[in-house]
Amino acid sequence: MAFFSDALARMKPSATMVVTQKARDLKATGRDIISLSVGEPDFDTPAHIKKAGIAAIERNETRYPPVSGIIPLREAIAKKFKRENNLDYKPSQTIVGTGGKQILFNAFLATLNAGDEVVIPAPFWVSYPEMVAICGGTPVIAPTTLKDNFKLKPEALEKAITPKTKWIILNSPSNPSGAAYTYDELKALTDVLVKHPHVWILPDDMYEHLVYGDFKFFTPAEIEPRLYERTLTMNGVSKAYAMTGWRIGYAAGPEKLVKAMDTLQGQQTSGACTIAQWASVEALNGPQDHLPKFKKSFEERRDLVVSMLNQTSYLECPVPEGAFYVYPSCAKAIGRKAPSGNTIKTDEDFVTELLEAEGVAVVHGSAFGLGPNFRLSYAASSKVLEDACGRIQRFCGALR
Ligand SMILES: Cc1ncc(COP(=O)(O)O)c(C=O)c1O
Repeated sequence: MAFFSDALARMKPSATMVVTQKARDLKATGRDIISLSVGEPDFDTPAHIKKAGIAAIERNETRYPPVSGIIPLREAIAKKFKRENNLDYKPSQTIVGTGGKQILFNAFLATLNAGDEVVIPAPFWVSYPEMVAICGGTPVIAPTTLKDNFKLKPEALEKAITPKTKWIILNSPSNPSGAAYTYDELKALTDVLVKHPHVWILPDDMYEHLVYGDFKFFTPAEIEPRLYERTLTMNGVSKAYAMTGWRIGYAAGPEKLVKAMDTLQGQQTSGACTIAQWASVEALNGPQDHLPKFKKSFEERRDLVVSMLNQTSYLECPVPEGAFYVYPSCAKAIGRKAPSGNTIKTDEDFVTELLEAEGVAVVHGSAFGLGPNFRLSYAASSKVLEDACGRIQRFCGALR
Protein backbone atom coordinates (compact mmCIF):
# COMPACT_ATOMS: atom_id res chain seq x y z
CA MET A 1 0.00 0.00 0.00
CA ALA A 2 1.45 3.39 -1.00
CA PHE A 3 2.10 5.69 1.96
CA PHE A 4 1.72 9.00 0.07
CA SER A 5 -1.61 9.99 -1.40
CA ASP A 6 -2.65 10.21 -5.04
CA ALA A 7 -3.56 13.86 -4.33
CA LEU A 8 0.06 14.60 -3.41
CA ALA A 9 1.27 12.85 -6.53
CA ARG A 10 -0.88 15.24 -8.60
CA MET A 11 1.01 18.26 -7.23
CA LYS A 12 4.43 19.60 -8.30
CA PRO A 13 6.62 21.64 -5.94
CA SER A 14 6.60 25.36 -6.73
CA ALA A 15 9.28 26.18 -9.35
CA THR A 16 9.77 29.63 -7.84
CA MET A 17 10.50 28.08 -4.43
CA VAL A 18 12.90 25.58 -6.04
CA VAL A 19 14.88 28.33 -7.81
CA THR A 20 14.89 30.54 -4.69
CA GLN A 21 16.24 27.65 -2.62
CA LYS A 22 18.90 26.87 -5.23
CA ALA A 23 20.03 30.51 -5.13
CA ARG A 24 20.14 30.37 -1.30
CA ASP A 25 22.21 27.17 -1.39
CA LEU A 26 24.70 28.70 -3.83
CA LYS A 27 24.96 31.82 -1.67
CA ALA A 28 25.69 29.64 1.35
CA THR A 29 28.72 28.25 -0.51
CA GLY A 30 30.11 31.78 -0.76
CA ARG A 31 29.03 32.60 -4.34
CA ASP A 32 27.97 36.14 -5.19
CA ILE A 33 24.30 35.53 -6.07
CA ILE A 34 21.51 37.98 -6.90
CA SER A 35 18.12 36.35 -6.50
CA LEU A 36 15.31 37.93 -8.50
CA SER A 37 13.09 34.90 -8.17
CA VAL A 38 10.80 35.80 -5.27
CA GLY A 39 7.32 37.27 -5.46
CA GLU A 40 7.24 39.76 -2.62
CA PRO A 41 7.77 43.50 -2.20
CA ASP A 42 11.10 44.48 -0.65
CA PHE A 43 9.38 47.20 1.44
CA ASP A 44 8.45 46.99 5.11
CA THR A 45 4.81 46.85 6.25
CA PRO A 46 3.77 50.51 6.79
CA ALA A 47 4.18 51.65 10.41
CA HIS A 48 0.49 52.37 11.13
CA ILE A 49 -0.42 48.83 10.10
CA LYS A 50 2.28 47.30 12.29
CA LYS A 51 1.02 49.42 15.20
CA ALA A 52 -2.52 48.10 14.69
CA GLY A 53 -1.15 44.55 14.98
CA ILE A 54 0.72 45.42 18.19
CA ALA A 55 -2.37 47.14 19.62
CA ALA A 56 -4.42 44.01 18.86
CA ILE A 57 -1.99 41.90 20.88
CA GLU A 58 -2.13 44.37 23.75
CA ARG A 59 -5.94 44.36 23.70
CA ASN A 60 -5.76 40.56 23.96
CA GLU A 61 -7.38 39.98 20.58
CA THR A 62 -5.79 36.59 20.81
CA ARG A 63 -8.69 34.13 20.88
CA TYR A 64 -10.23 32.05 18.08
CA PRO A 65 -11.81 34.35 15.50
CA PRO A 66 -15.10 33.71 13.69
CA VAL A 67 -14.19 31.26 10.90
CA SER A 68 -14.92 33.66 8.01
CA GLY A 69 -13.14 36.59 9.63
CA ILE A 70 -13.67 39.22 12.32
CA ILE A 71 -16.66 41.46 11.61
CA PRO A 72 -14.63 44.72 11.41
CA LEU A 73 -12.46 43.17 8.68
CA ARG A 74 -15.43 41.82 6.73
CA GLU A 75 -16.98 45.29 6.95
CA ALA A 76 -13.70 46.87 5.79
CA ILE A 77 -13.58 44.45 2.84
CA ALA A 78 -17.17 45.30 1.84
CA LYS A 79 -16.28 49.02 2.03
CA LYS A 80 -13.12 48.47 -0.01
CA PHE A 81 -15.09 46.77 -2.80
CA LYS A 82 -17.57 49.66 -2.86
CA ARG A 83 -14.94 52.42 -2.67
CA GLU A 84 -12.41 51.00 -5.14
CA ASN A 85 -14.39 48.72 -7.43
CA ASN A 86 -17.93 50.09 -7.21
CA LEU A 87 -19.16 46.63 -6.14
CA ASP A 88 -21.89 46.12 -3.53
CA TYR A 89 -21.25 43.32 -1.08
CA LYS A 90 -22.68 42.68 2.36
CA PRO A 91 -20.07 41.61 4.95
CA SER A 92 -21.80 38.20 4.90
CA GLN A 93 -20.73 37.83 1.26
CA THR A 94 -17.06 38.22 2.18
CA ILE A 95 -14.55 35.76 3.60
CA VAL A 96 -11.08 36.19 5.08
CA GLY A 97 -8.48 33.47 4.57
CA THR A 98 -4.90 32.70 5.51
CA GLY A 99 -3.54 34.39 2.39
CA GLY A 100 -5.13 34.65 -1.02
CA LYS A 101 -3.77 31.16 -1.51
CA GLN A 102 -6.22 29.64 0.98
CA ILE A 103 -9.13 31.52 -0.59
CA LEU A 104 -8.35 30.09 -4.03
CA PHE A 105 -7.77 26.63 -2.65
CA ASN A 106 -11.06 26.56 -0.78
CA ALA A 107 -13.02 27.96 -3.71
CA PHE A 108 -11.77 25.02 -5.78
CA LEU A 109 -12.15 22.45 -3.01
CA ALA A 110 -15.72 23.60 -2.43
CA THR A 111 -16.75 23.37 -6.08
CA LEU A 112 -14.63 21.01 -8.18
CA ASN A 113 -15.57 17.42 -8.94
CA ALA A 114 -13.62 14.97 -11.08
CA GLY A 115 -13.78 16.09 -14.70
CA ASP A 116 -14.61 19.73 -13.94
CA GLU A 117 -12.39 22.04 -15.95
CA VAL A 118 -10.76 25.31 -14.92
CA VAL A 119 -9.55 27.63 -17.69
CA ILE A 120 -6.18 29.14 -16.81
CA PRO A 121 -4.60 31.67 -19.20
CA ALA A 122 -0.85 31.10 -19.67
CA PRO A 123 1.57 32.34 -18.50
CA PHE A 124 -0.02 31.62 -15.11
CA TRP A 125 0.89 31.83 -11.44
CA VAL A 126 2.49 28.45 -10.69
CA SER A 127 -0.02 27.51 -7.99
CA TYR A 128 -3.22 27.62 -10.10
CA PRO A 129 -2.91 24.32 -12.01
CA GLU A 130 -1.55 22.54 -8.96
CA MET A 131 -4.45 23.68 -6.78
CA VAL A 132 -6.99 22.71 -9.40
CA ALA A 133 -5.39 19.29 -9.84
CA ILE A 134 -5.20 18.53 -6.12
CA CYS A 135 -8.87 19.46 -5.77
CA GLY A 136 -9.70 16.88 -8.45
CA GLY A 137 -10.31 19.29 -11.33
CA THR A 138 -8.65 19.52 -14.73
CA PRO A 139 -6.66 22.63 -15.61
CA VAL A 140 -7.27 23.78 -19.19
CA ILE A 141 -4.47 26.08 -20.29
CA ALA A 142 -5.44 28.92 -22.65
CA PRO A 143 -2.29 30.32 -24.27
CA THR A 144 -1.47 33.96 -24.95
CA THR A 145 1.36 35.44 -27.03
CA LEU A 146 4.10 37.98 -26.52
CA LYS A 147 2.63 39.87 -29.49
CA ASP A 148 -0.58 40.34 -27.45
CA ASN A 149 1.46 41.29 -24.37
CA PHE A 150 0.43 37.99 -22.75
CA LYS A 151 -3.25 38.92 -22.61
CA LEU A 152 -5.98 36.41 -23.35
CA LYS A 153 -7.94 37.14 -26.52
CA PRO A 154 -11.71 36.53 -26.61
CA GLU A 155 -11.27 33.92 -29.36
CA ALA A 156 -8.82 31.92 -27.21
CA LEU A 157 -11.23 32.12 -24.27
CA GLU A 158 -14.13 30.95 -26.41
CA LYS A 159 -12.03 28.02 -27.63
CA ALA A 160 -11.05 26.96 -24.10
CA ILE A 161 -14.63 26.83 -22.76
CA THR A 162 -16.42 23.45 -22.91
CA PRO A 163 -19.61 22.14 -21.26
CA LYS A 164 -17.31 20.92 -18.44
CA THR A 165 -15.83 24.34 -17.66
CA LYS A 166 -16.57 25.34 -14.08
CA TRP A 167 -14.24 28.30 -13.58
CA ILE A 168 -12.01 30.71 -15.39
CA ILE A 169 -9.22 32.44 -13.49
CA LEU A 170 -8.43 35.99 -14.59
CA ASN A 171 -5.32 37.42 -12.97
CA SER A 172 -4.71 41.09 -13.71
CA PRO A 173 -2.07 42.44 -13.21
CA SER A 174 -0.51 39.07 -13.81
CA ASN A 175 2.08 37.09 -12.00
CA PRO A 176 4.35 36.29 -13.92
CA SER A 177 3.95 38.69 -16.88
CA GLY A 178 2.83 41.92 -15.17
CA ALA A 179 0.21 42.31 -17.93
CA ALA A 180 -3.03 44.01 -16.88
CA TYR A 181 -6.27 44.22 -18.86
CA THR A 182 -7.66 47.58 -19.91
CA TYR A 183 -11.41 48.20 -19.67
CA ASP A 184 -11.90 47.30 -23.35
CA GLU A 185 -9.77 44.17 -23.18
CA LEU A 186 -11.64 42.94 -20.12
CA LYS A 187 -15.03 43.85 -21.62
CA ALA A 188 -14.22 41.71 -24.67
CA LEU A 189 -13.66 38.76 -22.30
CA THR A 190 -16.73 39.40 -20.16
CA ASP A 191 -18.82 39.57 -23.37
CA VAL A 192 -17.75 35.98 -24.06
CA LEU A 193 -18.45 34.90 -20.47
CA VAL A 194 -21.97 36.33 -20.50
CA LYS A 195 -22.77 33.81 -23.24
CA HIS A 196 -21.68 30.84 -21.05
CA PRO A 197 -23.85 30.93 -17.91
CA HIS A 198 -22.38 27.70 -16.50
CA VAL A 199 -18.90 29.27 -16.15
CA TRP A 200 -17.88 30.93 -12.88
CA ILE A 201 -15.28 33.71 -12.82
CA LEU A 202 -12.42 33.94 -10.35
CA PRO A 203 -10.63 37.29 -10.73
CA ASP A 204 -7.33 37.25 -8.81
CA ASP A 205 -6.84 40.96 -8.15
CA MET A 206 -3.90 40.53 -5.78
CA TYR A 207 -1.82 43.14 -7.66
CA GLU A 208 -4.69 45.62 -8.19
CA HIS A 209 -2.86 48.59 -6.66
CA LEU A 210 0.46 47.98 -8.36
CA VAL A 211 -0.24 49.53 -11.78
CA TYR A 212 1.87 52.20 -13.41
CA GLY A 213 1.63 55.32 -15.51
CA ASP A 214 -1.99 56.27 -16.13
CA PHE A 215 -3.21 52.66 -16.28
CA LYS A 216 -6.65 52.26 -14.72
CA PHE A 217 -7.53 48.97 -13.01
CA PHE A 218 -10.89 47.22 -13.53
CA THR A 219 -12.29 43.94 -12.24
CA PRO A 220 -14.76 41.76 -14.20
CA ALA A 221 -17.86 42.05 -11.94
CA GLU A 222 -17.53 45.83 -12.05
CA ILE A 223 -17.48 45.86 -15.84
CA GLU A 224 -20.24 43.32 -16.36
CA PRO A 225 -22.93 43.24 -13.62
CA ARG A 226 -24.51 40.19 -15.29
CA LEU A 227 -21.49 38.19 -14.03
CA TYR A 228 -21.92 39.32 -10.40
CA GLU A 229 -23.90 36.21 -9.39
CA ARG A 230 -21.14 33.87 -10.56
CA THR A 231 -17.99 35.76 -9.68
CA LEU A 232 -15.75 35.30 -6.65
CA THR A 233 -13.43 38.31 -6.61
CA MET A 234 -10.21 37.52 -4.73
CA ASN A 235 -7.75 40.03 -3.33
CA GLY A 236 -5.48 40.46 -0.33
CA VAL A 237 -3.12 42.66 1.60
CA SER A 238 0.10 40.76 0.77
CA LYS A 239 1.40 42.80 -2.15
CA ALA A 240 -0.10 46.30 -1.92
CA TYR A 241 0.61 46.65 1.81
CA ALA A 242 3.89 44.66 1.90
CA MET A 243 2.23 42.14 4.24
CA THR A 244 3.20 38.79 2.69
CA GLY A 245 4.11 37.28 6.06
CA TRP A 246 0.88 38.32 7.80
CA ARG A 247 -1.01 35.83 5.60
CA ILE A 248 -4.33 37.59 4.99
CA GLY A 249 -6.32 37.24 1.78
CA TYR A 250 -10.01 37.75 1.14
CA ALA A 251 -12.79 37.40 -1.39
CA ALA A 252 -16.36 38.46 -2.02
CA GLY A 253 -19.02 36.59 -3.94
CA PRO A 254 -22.37 34.82 -3.69
CA GLU A 255 -23.26 33.93 -0.12
CA LYS A 256 -23.81 30.23 -0.87
CA LEU A 257 -20.20 29.89 -2.06
CA VAL A 258 -18.80 31.91 0.84
CA LYS A 259 -20.72 29.66 3.25
CA ALA A 260 -19.30 26.53 1.62
CA MET A 261 -15.78 27.94 1.91
CA ASP A 262 -16.50 28.77 5.57
CA THR A 263 -17.41 25.10 6.18
CA LEU A 264 -14.05 24.00 4.75
CA GLN A 265 -12.09 26.64 6.62
CA GLY A 266 -13.80 25.62 9.88
CA GLN A 267 -12.13 22.22 9.59
CA GLN A 268 -8.77 23.60 8.44
CA THR A 269 -7.49 26.74 10.16
CA SER A 270 -10.61 27.81 12.14
CA GLY A 271 -10.02 31.26 10.64
CA ALA A 272 -7.00 33.48 10.01
CA CYS A 273 -4.70 34.90 12.72
CA THR A 274 -6.61 37.55 14.73
CA ILE A 275 -3.64 39.89 15.05
CA ALA A 276 -3.05 39.87 11.30
CA GLN A 277 -6.78 40.47 10.77
CA TRP A 278 -6.73 43.57 12.98
CA ALA A 279 -3.66 44.85 11.13
CA SER A 280 -5.53 44.27 7.87
CA VAL A 281 -8.50 46.34 9.12
CA GLU A 282 -6.04 49.22 9.44
CA ALA A 283 -4.52 48.43 6.03
CA LEU A 284 -7.91 48.68 4.30
CA ASN A 285 -9.48 51.50 6.37
CA GLY A 286 -6.38 53.53 7.22
CA PRO A 287 -4.27 55.98 5.19
CA GLN A 288 -3.13 54.75 1.81
CA ASP A 289 -0.26 57.20 1.36
CA HIS A 290 2.44 54.52 1.19
CA LEU A 291 0.98 53.40 -2.15
CA PRO A 292 2.16 56.29 -4.38
CA LYS A 293 5.67 55.72 -2.95
CA PHE A 294 5.57 51.97 -3.64
CA LYS A 295 4.24 52.62 -7.14
CA LYS A 296 6.78 55.28 -8.03
CA SER A 297 9.62 53.07 -6.91
CA PHE A 298 8.32 49.99 -8.76
CA GLU A 299 7.67 52.00 -11.93
CA GLU A 300 11.23 53.36 -11.97
CA ARG A 301 12.61 49.86 -11.48
CA ARG A 302 10.36 48.42 -14.19
CA ASP A 303 11.58 51.04 -16.66
CA LEU A 304 15.21 50.40 -15.75
CA VAL A 305 14.91 46.63 -16.12
CA VAL A 306 12.91 46.69 -19.38
CA SER A 307 15.34 49.13 -20.93
CA MET A 308 18.45 47.19 -19.88
CA LEU A 309 17.07 43.80 -20.96
CA ASN A 310 16.02 45.15 -24.35
CA GLN A 311 19.57 46.35 -24.96
CA THR A 312 20.68 42.73 -25.40
CA SER A 313 20.03 41.28 -28.83
CA TYR A 314 18.91 37.91 -27.39
CA LEU A 315 16.02 39.18 -25.27
CA GLU A 316 12.68 40.78 -26.05
CA CYS A 317 10.89 42.36 -23.11
CA PRO A 318 7.46 43.99 -23.41
CA VAL A 319 6.59 46.77 -20.94
CA PRO A 320 4.17 45.34 -18.36
CA GLU A 321 1.38 47.51 -16.94
CA GLY A 322 1.67 46.29 -13.36
CA ALA A 323 2.84 43.91 -10.58
CA PHE A 324 6.62 43.69 -10.09
CA TYR A 325 7.64 41.21 -12.74
CA VAL A 326 8.91 41.29 -16.30
CA TYR A 327 8.62 38.29 -18.57
CA PRO A 328 11.11 38.60 -21.41
CA SER A 329 11.37 36.11 -24.25
CA CYS A 330 14.74 34.37 -24.60
CA ALA A 331 13.74 32.65 -27.88
CA LYS A 332 16.71 34.13 -29.72
CA ALA A 333 19.13 32.55 -27.24
CA ILE A 334 17.84 29.03 -27.94
CA GLY A 335 20.41 27.02 -29.90
CA ARG A 336 23.32 29.21 -28.70
CA LYS A 337 26.27 28.01 -26.63
CA ALA A 338 26.60 29.27 -23.04
CA PRO A 339 30.03 30.13 -21.53
CA SER A 340 30.04 26.59 -20.00
CA GLY A 341 30.06 25.13 -23.52
CA ASN A 342 26.53 23.71 -23.06
CA THR A 343 23.96 24.46 -25.76
CA ILE A 344 20.86 26.29 -24.52
CA LYS A 345 17.91 24.21 -25.67
CA THR A 346 15.15 25.50 -23.38
CA ASP A 347 14.36 28.47 -21.14
CA GLU A 348 15.21 26.23 -18.19
CA ASP A 349 18.71 25.79 -19.69
CA PHE A 350 18.92 29.57 -20.11
CA VAL A 351 18.19 30.31 -16.45
CA THR A 352 20.43 27.46 -15.23
CA GLU A 353 23.36 28.70 -17.33
CA LEU A 354 22.72 32.30 -16.27
CA LEU A 355 22.81 31.30 -12.60
CA GLU A 356 25.96 29.25 -13.17
CA ALA A 357 27.81 31.90 -15.21
CA GLU A 358 26.70 35.17 -13.60
CA GLY A 359 24.98 34.25 -10.35
CA VAL A 360 21.59 35.78 -11.26
CA ALA A 361 18.54 33.72 -10.26
CA VAL A 362 15.35 34.11 -12.32
CA VAL A 363 12.58 31.58 -13.02
CA HIS A 364 12.11 29.79 -16.35
CA GLY A 365 8.91 30.53 -18.24
CA SER A 366 8.01 26.89 -18.82
CA ALA A 367 7.19 26.74 -15.08
CA PHE A 368 4.49 29.36 -15.79
CA GLY A 369 3.17 27.51 -18.81
CA LEU A 370 4.60 29.73 -21.57
CA GLY A 371 8.12 29.90 -22.91
CA PRO A 372 10.85 30.29 -23.91
CA ASN A 373 10.77 33.17 -21.42
CA PHE A 374 11.82 33.89 -17.88
CA ARG A 375 10.32 35.82 -14.99
CA LEU A 376 12.43 38.43 -13.28
CA SER A 377 11.05 40.01 -10.11
CA TYR A 378 12.12 43.64 -9.82
CA ALA A 379 11.24 43.91 -6.13
CA ALA A 380 14.86 44.80 -5.35
CA SER A 381 16.81 48.07 -5.14
CA SER A 382 17.77 49.87 -8.37
CA LYS A 383 21.43 49.24 -7.54
CA VAL A 384 20.88 45.49 -7.31
CA LEU A 385 18.75 45.51 -10.46
CA GLU A 386 21.37 47.44 -12.39
CA ASP A 387 24.00 44.94 -11.30
CA ALA A 388 21.75 41.98 -12.20
CA CYS A 389 20.77 43.34 -15.61
CA GLY A 390 24.42 44.17 -16.33
CA ARG A 391 25.25 40.55 -15.60
CA ILE A 392 22.40 39.35 -17.85
CA GLN A 393 23.75 41.60 -20.63
CA ARG A 394 27.24 40.15 -20.12
CA PHE A 395 25.83 36.60 -20.19
CA CYS A 396 23.96 37.28 -23.43
CA GLY A 397 27.05 38.96 -24.89
CA ALA A 398 29.03 35.77 -24.20
CA LEU A 399 26.57 33.46 -26.01
CA ARG A 400 27.96 31.93 -29.19
C1 LIG B 1 -1.21 36.02 -8.61
C2 LIG B 1 -1.15 35.69 -7.17
N1 LIG B 1 -2.27 35.35 -6.55
C3 LIG B 1 -2.29 35.02 -5.26
C4 LIG B 1 -1.13 35.02 -4.51
C5 LIG B 1 -1.21 34.60 -3.07
O1 LIG B 1 -1.04 35.60 -2.21
P1 LIG B 1 -1.03 35.38 -0.63
O2 LIG B 1 0.33 35.77 -0.17
O3 LIG B 1 -2.07 36.31 -0.10
O4 LIG B 1 -1.35 33.96 -0.33
C6 LIG B 1 0.07 35.37 -5.11
C7 LIG B 1 1.33 35.33 -4.35
O5 LIG B 1 2.42 35.27 -4.89
C8 LIG B 1 0.07 35.72 -6.48
O6 LIG B 1 1.19 36.07 -7.12
